[in-house]
Amino acid sequence: MSEISERINSSINIASLIGETVKLKPASQGYVGLCPFHHEDTPSFHVYTDTNSYYCFGCHKGGNIFTYLMERDNINFSEALHILADRAGISLSDNHPDHKHTDREILKLAQDFFTEYLMKSNIGLNYLLKRSVMKSDIQKFRLGYAPDSWDALTLYLRKHGLNDKTIVDAGLAVQSKTGIYDRFRGRIIFPIHDITGRITAFGGRLIAGDGAKYINSPESEIYRKRKNLYLLDIARNAISEKKRSILCEGYMDAIRLHKSGFPESVASLGTSLTAEQAELLSRYADTCYICYDSDTAGQNAAIRGMYILQSHGLDVRVISLPEGKDPDEYLLSHSPEEFEDLITHAKPLILAHIASMRSRLEDISTRKSAVRELLSSLETLSAGEVSEYKSQICDATRLLPSELDKILVSEKPLSYEFTPEPEAKISDETLECGLCALMLKEEKLRLKIPPEEVMKIISISELKDLALSILNEDVSTLSEIWLETGDIEKFSKIECGENLIRQMKGLTDEEKFMRVYHALKRASIERRIKAINALPFSERNYHELNVLYLEREKYNR
Ligand code: UTP
Ligand code: MN
Repeated sequence: MSEISERINSSINIASLIGETVKLKPASQGYVGLCPFHHEDTPSFHVYTDTNSYYCFGCHKGGNIFTYLMERDNINFSEALHILADRAGISLSDNHPDHKHTDREILKLAQDFFTEYLMKSNIGLNYLLKRSVMKSDIQKFRLGYAPDSWDALTLYLRKHGLNDKTIVDAGLAVQSKTGIYDRFRGRIIFPIHDITGRITAFGGRLIAGDGAKYINSPESEIYRKRKNLYLLDIARNAISEKKRSILCEGYMDAIRLHKSGFPESVASLGTSLTAEQAELLSRYADTCYICYDSDTAGQNAAIRGMYILQSHGLDVRVISLPEGKDPDEYLLSHSPEEFEDLITHAKPLILAHIASMRSRLEDISTRKSAVRELLSSLETLSAGEVSEYKSQICDATRLLPSELDKILVSEKPLSYEFTPEPEAKISDETLECGLCALMLKEEKLRLKIPPEEVMKIISISELKDLALSILNEDVSTLSEIWLETGDIEKFSKIECGENLIRQMKGLTDEEKFMRVYHALKRASIERRIKAINALPFSERNYHELNVLYLEREKYNR
């Protein structure tokens, strides 16, 4: 293991980590319990305290504290590393000692301040009670209140030894000519946590007076809006269990949904969805129910976001709420059963999209642009996803089925099929990661093309190394070895590849493999052609060039 993972490993007792969620009984070499990774009635899951490892004799899963957390929480290595580092109180950033750690410490201090203040503020408590948010909810969602003061938090943080620059950098105060002042004033505070439950930012809702209804912490090293979904940290287990997620817009919507028995809910916080958020959700959910206010659900940006979700392998369905209501308001006057009923009747994305364009499709002056918009959205989906709704699409666009087929099967470059943003061409590096991830996953794919061919089409030397070890070593122990050597890079390469694979929906692994292989083959031929053409005329091998041109034709299909 790398020095840092070694230090983390030696400060965390695997039995107490696992013991948090698995009932363990003492056994000869450590502990034994029911395996959390497969169903069983008699315990075959062993935890060894001397080596700080575990092994299940039933499903043969085994590993250390890092692999355990990765497996249990469906997170990647670097996320597990961060959680365990936090737990061990070890800072991961070497360059600026304690830099990130301090950032979080400050936010934690602020959070304590906000919660304490809420408990003694009648304004805040009354506001929440009026909105049917109870004391137990306040605890669960860790809500707070920022007093209507220019410097209450600043003074508190200064008292804890923080200087003004640090407070401003943490996004808690704003710099003015004369000094700094609190960013959040007279607002209910909604803390925002990352997927692993660490505080990353705050949102604040105005209670009275003028100003933006909600404000948020600015983007920072630890808060990237586009990579975050509100409440995902407490929703992800329910999402994995139910295989579905409910996506709403606002803080209060998400909280109300959780309170009403829908703990699989998360909020995008009013911004349009990103590929990163889609990737997060697709780790846990198969189906995503969109539950936006009726006035935003049909907006262009919202629809685009839904296609991003769908193109990440989620089955997207759109819930329709009565005019003018958001989920919070709806659930205040309707029962959870009624809401479940709305879920049951949620429309598949394509049909919801068509419905939202109904009047534009019927009006002769807007028809053309509406049809174009619909068809270009459909291009981001796989043929399989579209075919189910062909007749409705034909009805809406007044295309003949044969015309529609022609448009949809017209050969698109690889990049168009993978990503909703056609201009975002998939880099060779990503494709090479994808090839490695697929080879790691399945033996039959490792045998599909000869190793020397693999070496030829991979252009980046680290990925050549990765491919070589996948082809030559025992893959079942590879991740163990990477962990031991602290080779975090390898994990991130595989993760990058897995993301790509996940985005290629409607294909078998073998088909995915062939697509990636062909794309890389094409790229390697292009490279070779370029190299030859860069030579002076007299040195060019025209015979080879001709062969390459022919070959390129073959793979351009
Ligand atoms: P809405 O305007 O729909 O508010 O914004 P809401 O969630 O129903 O809020 P309540 O019920 O009146 O308290 C949806 C989300 O958009 C973001 C917030 O995340 C909000 O929850 N938003 C909204 C902002 O960031 N700033 C704003 O000024 C308004
Ligand atoms: Mn609302």
